[in-house]
Amino acid sequence: MGPMKPALASLCAMKSRGEKIAMLTAYDFPTARLLEEAGIDILLVGDSLGMVVLGYPDTTQVTMEEMLHHTRAVARGAAETLILADLPIHSYDTPEQAVSNARRLLEAGADAVKLEGGASHTPQIRALAEAGLPVMAHIGMMPQSVRIEGGYRVKGKTPEQAKQLVADAQAVEAAGAFGLLLELVVPEVAAEITRAISIPTIGIGSGVQCDGQVLVLHDLIGLFPWFTPKFATPTAHLGEEIRAAARAYLRETKSPSA
Ligand code: KIV
Repeated sequence: MGPMKPALASLCAMKSRGEKIAMLTAYDFPTARLLEEAGIDILLVGDSLGMVVLGYPDTTQVTMEEMLHHTRAVARGAAETLILADLPIHSYDTPEQAVSNARRLLEAGADAVKLEGGASHTPQIRALAEAGLPVMAHIGMMPQSVRIEGGYRVKGKTPEQAKQLVADAQAVEAAGAFGLLLELVVPEVAAEITRAISIPTIGIGSGVQCDGQVLVLHDLIGLFPWFTPKFATPTAHLGEEIRAAARAYLRETKSPSA
């Protein structure tokens, strides 16, 4: 584990001065290097890699070994950028397990970890923070619960849900989280949470008033063309480019022009 990158310490200051935080997922060396060269603030080695890289139906099969493997690759490509790695499902069921697995991710090159949960996970968050392991919490739609919940649903639609989300946000801040990811949270509720806490909020499908935004890179660049979430607008179409390049190669190989 190396010294804390300055970027981690500056996130709260970015929030205070209203400078938005840009986060994208990265799962491999060349992508991490390209995103660092582009100046992205935070690279997330998300367990979304289970779907967009490994071909699983959701994130519930992703293992620690897979997260470690991809975190190492990203760390080799982005020495200067803050790297956040997801703790996969069942790797943080207890505070002790959370600390031991977070250490492994930091040894693999991450600077911080993310776990899914709010007030229910304050013992894990407190243990990580007390051990000096920076942790971001993730509330709203929590993809590791997709099977239990039966789908990806917007959160915060009822006053009770909205109240619970604000309470979760305050609880994770008090427990020592350095940031909070809000996934598929009603934008007005995400804005209320952003005002209610002093740590930065990073939103996905949660409106523009969060302190920053995150996207799964494949949704931004059209590299997983079989499914694009409603809130993502691809600004490149790399899936199409790959098909076109492969077809051109195929034609040239089968019938060489020279
Ligand atoms: O795993 C991931 O990529 C995430 C995003 C949905 C933010 O947690």
